[in-house]
Amino acid sequence: MKIKILFVFLVVLAYSSGLKAQNNFIPQPESVVMKQGNFTLTNTTKIFLPKKFQKELNPYLVAKFEEDTGLILKTESKHPRINSNYIQFQITKEASVKSEGYILDISDVKIIIKAKDYAGFFNGFQTLRQAIPLGLAKSIEIPNVVIKDNPRFNWRGVMLDVSRHFQPKAFILKQIDVLSSYKINKFHWHLVDDQGWRIEIKKYPNLTKKGAWRGDRTGISWWSRKPATFEEPKTVGGFYTQEEIKEVIAYAKARNVEVIPEIDVPGHSKALIASYPELFCYDDAKANFEVAVGGKAPDNALCAGKETTYEFLEDVIKEVAELFPSKYLHIGGDECNKTNWKKCPYCQKVKTENNLKDEEELQSHFIQKVNKIVTAQKKIMIGWDEILSGKGAKGATIMAWRRGRHSPQLQAPREGYPTIMTSYIYSYISQVQGPSFMEPEGPNVVLPLSKVYNHEPIPSELTTEEAKRVLGNETCLWGEFTPTEEHCEYMLYPRALASAEVSWSQPKVKDWSRFQSALEKWHFKRLERAKINVAKSIYSVYPSYAIDQLHNEAIVYLQTETVGYAIYYTTDGKDPTINATKYESDFKTTPRTLLKAGLFNNKGDLLGEITEVRLK
Ligand code: ACM
Ligand code: ZN
Repeated sequence: MKIKILFVFLVVLAYSSGLKAQNNFIPQPESVVMKQGNFTLTNTTKIFLPKKFQKELNPYLVAKFEEDTGLILKTESKHPRINSNYIQFQITKEASVKSEGYILDISDVKIIIKAKDYAGFFNGFQTLRQAIPLGLAKSIEIPNVVIKDNPRFNWRGVMLDVSRHFQPKAFILKQIDVLSSYKINKFHWHLVDDQGWRIEIKKYPNLTKKGAWRGDRTGISWWSRKPATFEEPKTVGGFYTQEEIKEVIAYAKARNVEVIPEIDVPGHSKALIASYPELFCYDDAKANFEVAVGGKAPDNALCAGKETTYEFLEDVIKEVAELFPSKYLHIGGDECNKTNWKKCPYCQKVKTENNLKDEEELQSHFIQKVNKIVTAQKKIMIGWDEILSGKGAKGATIMAWRRGRHSPQLQAPREGYPTIMTSYIYSYISQVQGPSFMEPEGPNVVLPLSKVYNHEPIPSELTTEEAKRVLGNETCLWGEFTPTEEHCEYMLYPRALASAEVSWSQPKVKDWSRFQSALEKWHFKRLERAKINVAKSIYSVYPSYAIDQLHNEAIVYLQTETVGYAIYYTTDGKDPTINATKYESDFKTTPRTLLKAGLFNNKGDLLGEITEVRLK
């Protein structure tokens, strides 16, 4: 009896000043205060939405309510006269609500989302969606809560490379839909590269007639592929028509996502050169003018000396600029192989005429000319950080991807450039995400979910003034090893969610333990409901071991990136369950043993795949 009284007392205490229970929102909001009680959502619940947002937001809201809950709700623009059972989107002047930010207040009688702009309403609605329990029902209890939330960064990006492997329009729409529900607001579309040109350009039809198609090397590892011959059929590829691109842009806009096109020049241009070989440095009978199929792509730089190169790019950039409403246009600028420039009479002539010291300065000359073309279209040029070399590119925005020998994450903001962090160490999710031997083929580097999550985009070396130039953070999925839609999704999720939290949430509210627990409790199910092929590599056990020949012993060390779960293992060849040995610390066994280990939650469920390793 005594125990029971104590229990009741504790519950009352917990409810009196907001519930302290963990919440499962991703990205984690600025402030979350859970309250006692619920709002009951039924098909009689009314939505009130300001008139100016009706056209764009209403179809989306109604569709998502139906998708998530099965309920078909009605929307009105009038101020509510009823005093209960409604959801109101309310324009606010409150200073604490910033652009894209919102306040979500769920109480017994009503739900209020306050915001200043479309983006704020969209984002507030995403948080509301995450507050609704999963599952279709006629009456749904949504726990009361007050959430105040603003983004840390304005740039919360995801890049998708559709050149190495073309992905159809429907796939792009699906990703924008899901990513935007995690408050990602920039979709960087890497549309062209050596292995395929993916955007219709009306003035230059060869770009998609020839440049979008390549020889078939399916099944051959990417870096072992032999170049295509002139004669062989070119059956692998695809491209987006301008009409399709307009559809993607409109779909993204309704989801608060800006679409930024990338036309990668002067390097990575093999597909362009295959389509228009006259833009290559010289007529080399030995050069291969076919779209690259994988492997190395030599002879892939546009001639920086021919005036026709710039005329061509002006036409292309003009069409791209007219098609995409974004104020940004990405021109690549990365990894340009300048071997041919050193031998090319056109390039050398321009170098001499302009007093350029070397080919680095010639690249800078090229980039500055392209920058003029882009700014003439009233766009801001974005380039990968190689465009900082030579004389740089005044007015451009930098994507800082390199680390180590180069430090563009410091150089770009220090030199006054608006900078987007795309660290290849923390943000290149083309790298595998679990023990390599358990993952599909990819670059031989592991980028686990926790590493993406623990990234801090603003380097501590920057002053407050310099740090203000960091526009945000972006995660990049390069496509060499992701031929299928399923594989792309596997690489994107859940790491894009970790990146979303890096981009949205203030460091002080970030918590890896909470994030990974929210994935298990809520988001894996939510992603699966959206038919996403999500990776569960977070639950793979990482084994390491050493063999002590002298004592005929294997010393085994097991690791997990998770918190709050337990590793169980066997050495008798059987699959582990929670009745196997619980891993506490490193242990010794005999060499050649087959070790099997798995990660289990406190209900005793195996969470991921079993790690299997022969200790030899
Ligand atoms: C890059 O990774 N080449 C931007
Ligand atoms: Zn040249």
